[in-house]
Amino acid sequence: MKIMITGGAGFIGAALVRHIIRHTEHHVINVDKLTYAGNLDSLAETADHPRHSFHQVDICQNQAIEELLAYYQPDAIMHLAAESHVDRSIDGPADFIQTNIVGTFTLLEAARKYWLGLSKEARQGFRFHHISTDEVYGDLGETGLFTEQTPYEPSSPYSASKASSDHLARAWQRTYGLPVLITNCSNNYGHYQFPEKLIPLVILNALEGKPLPIYGEGLQVRDWLHVDDHARALLKVLEEGSIGETYNIGGHNERQNIQVVEAICSLLDELCPEKTAGINSYSELITFVEDRPGHDVRYAIDASKIARELGWTPEETFESGIRKTVIWYLENQPWCQSVQSGNYQRQRLGIEGKQ
Ligand code: NAD
Ligand code: DAU
Repeated sequence: MKIMITGGAGFIGAALVRHIIRHTEHHVINVDKLTYAGNLDSLAETADHPRHSFHQVDICQNQAIEELLAYYQPDAIMHLAAESHVDRSIDGPADFIQTNIVGTFTLLEAARKYWLGLSKEARQGFRFHHISTDEVYGDLGETGLFTEQTPYEPSSPYSASKASSDHLARAWQRTYGLPVLITNCSNNYGHYQFPEKLIPLVILNALEGKPLPIYGEGLQVRDWLHVDDHARALLKVLEEGSIGETYNIGGHNERQNIQVVEAICSLLDELCPEKTAGINSYSELITFVEDRPGHDVRYAIDASKIARELGWTPEETFESGIRKTVIWYLENQPWCQSVQSGNYQRQRLGIEGKQ
């Protein structure tokens, strides 16, 4: 297959590109605007590979997208490009509306036009895979799991914009017959994640002896999935999923934020015992700070449909995955420094809109 991947220089997109180039014969047409979250260093391994081409393009640029589709004639589009950080969506929602909603609309329309021009056989084989999040389902409360039937109830500007994009993708399938697949995944972690997200932020702050900020009391629960397991699931859905279906993807790894941060601290105590002066354990750096506005208390995914219908289950446990991740950040400090070279220095985000 020739697969156009949007957002392929971001955290999950780059993991997907690496996975496809390593483990399949598919060709990748990588389309990414290279915002602060996109980084070509994450693609060093595939940069010069003959089955990978990179194009710095904004998905909102209709003409550029149409030209790429006409030139490469892809068999599938995997759409990951998005503004992805909840805290940034609170400080400035405009980019989220533009990329996540208008960008998805632009891509769906370009895909529809391209798909209508294909031969009957190519039209039947074509897929538009829209990659989304469990946050569209909102706040779960203390019990239960998100299934594919859970009603949408997004809480943040980010999750509302992703919910809108899911609705558009579903409508383009129902109304126009575009062969759409949708996946909704839980929190990813792993190598090459931009250090605004909880896990890399805590690792890097700890190494510098800085406070480890926990929002509220740290009792919120997320369902953690290693990014390589997500990449495997995405390819499985693209290759074997049924048109018009939604698949939830999750790690069966529910953890409170405080438990995640304590796990990172004890791994660092073991792997990196030479700490900054004055502390015996990295956990002494834990600092409770003002909560995130609108903070969802718990997410947890029922991933039984993708297991039953497509045979996908995660390979990584949280314990094995978090150990690998901490080691990767310890060994890849140059990557961490290069991606933070702009105006982001791990300062607190997401409280500008607070009354
Ligand atoms: P990320 O922020 O790391 O990467 C996003 C990528 O999209 C970046 O490379 C960026 O340059 C690119 N991009 C942004 N705006 C663009 C535009 N207008 N045109 C072209 N490219 C643009 O995000 P991520 O964590 O890799 O998430 C990827 C996708 O997966 C998103 O759609 C997100 O909603 C979804 N998702 C993420 C998680 C998670 O835990 N990170 C979980 C479930 C679903
Ligand atoms: O559930 C999937 C979602 O997971 C994705 O759709 C998003 O793109 C991705 O960013 C992630 O969203 P979260 O808001 O859950 O991730 P984040 O890493 O920002 O925060 C994880 C939890 O940790 C959340 O409850 C907020 C908390 N937190 C976060 C940061 C950055 C802290 O307590 N302190 C922090 O400094």
